[in-house]
Amino acid sequence: MKVGIIGSGGREHAICESLKNSNKIDEIFCFPGNAGTEDIAKNIILDLNNFENIKNFVLEKKIDLVVVGPEKPLVDGIVDYLEKFNIKVFGPNKIASQLEGSKIFTKNLCQKFNIPTAKFGIFQNKNDSKKFLKESNFPTVIKADNLASGKGVYICNNEIEGNIAIEEIFNGKFGKAENLLIEEFLKGEEMSFFTINDGNIFKNFGSAQDHKRVLEGDKGKNTGGMGAYSPSRLLNSDLEKKIINKIIKPTLKGLSELGGEYKGFLYAGLMIVDNEPYLIEYNVRMGDPECQTILPKLKTDLVEIFLACCNKKLNEIDIEWSNKKSLCIVVCSKGYPDNFNKDIEIENLKNIKLNNNEYLFHAGTSKKNNKIYAIGGRVLNLVTLSDDFNIARQTIIKNLNNLNWLGGFYRKDIGFKVIK
Ligand code: AMP
Ligand code: GLY
Repeated sequence: MKVGIIGSGGREHAICESLKNSNKIDEIFCFPGNAGTEDIAKNIILDLNNFENIKNFVLEKKIDLVVVGPEKPLVDGIVDYLEKFNIKVFGPNKIASQLEGSKIFTKNLCQKFNIPTAKFGIFQNKNDSKKFLKESNFPTVIKADNLASGKGVYICNNEIEGNIAIEEIFNGKFGKAENLLIEEFLKGEEMSFFTINDGNIFKNFGSAQDHKRVLEGDKGKNTGGMGAYSPSRLLNSDLEKKIINKIIKPTLKGLSELGGEYKGFLYAGLMIVDNEPYLIEYNVRMGDPECQTILPKLKTDLVEIFLACCNKKLNEIDIEWSNKKSLCIVVCSKGYPDNFNKDIEIENLKNIKLNNNEYLFHAGTSKKNNKIYAIGGRVLNLVTLSDDFNIARQTIIKNLNNLNWLGGFYRKDIGFKVIK
């Protein structure tokens, strides 16, 4: 069969790599993919905002299944659109994608269905927001409602910082702002928890801890994610039950009462406070770099899982995992998450020698005249599976020393909370 994958990051390369192992697959297309997917799939440059062009290509090439990696097309309704033309798509529809597209939609769902989350208020203008802020305890968290690639969140230590956040959001820094969210700061440790869903049932799809800050010791600015390890050190069977019973199940029930069913990956961004889970946010996709960290542990044929989800037959599939631990380090362009130079050659990729249980996933890369160039902020992901997180990290760092790419940097302390 033929599969099309939408997206161009490390997550999509990891999905491609996993699908490649299936004997069901004849051909893979990536829209638009990166230099890594180019070795496995046909990269197709198409405007991802133009659903009609995507549909025409899929029908013309007789692609049997489309997998949507990133949130933007999901939130914009690509699944509903393609399904109108009888195209099989793995991903949630537009109603369900509001879980990521609108923080306020999710907060209201939490309130209605008693899902534990930070206490919050929703405000429509600067004055009301500032008045509420005056009475708040600090730190407090201020969020834009829209999709903002993780950038529309301010942790404010005092009223002055809070007022700046309110001004920036209502002045349109993250697009037209009709609402703003002020919420209680939760002090705990973050964890990413994943399920895969077929509209009727769901199965767990692993846990991980991402490292979102750019500098070692979790300092500096927020990024898309500098590295991750799986499973999360916080997960135990008691906590897992709480996550499923207090968060995942009521969310799916709530969605179905609102007329939506959930098909696709669901990513719960949680704050764990004294072994109690609180929902910070939902994402309607796999995490990046969590996907690169988790998928190498999957033993079951990924395409069979995707098809089972599209056919509401996930109950017929046993999802099997390796018991090994996984760690991923992301290599970024110097300057990220602020300005960085593009089109910098990555010269020594061939110096990375991958053994069993070692993986290299490309993110912001492009191939020209057989040379590989960095074109994005996050560029490469190195992943190793091992019985020991420390060995996994050392293996990756050895590879990165061999790469010795002067245009990039990475955090050497990924996994520091599990590696003594
Ligand atoms: P979000 O985009 O909602 O995931 O927020 C981005 C980051 O801000 C999260 O990964 C957390 O590190 C932090 N954050 C968001 N909400 C809270 C909260 N209520 N309490 C503490 N930290 C938060
Ligand atoms: N790793 C964070 C995200 O994918 O949103």
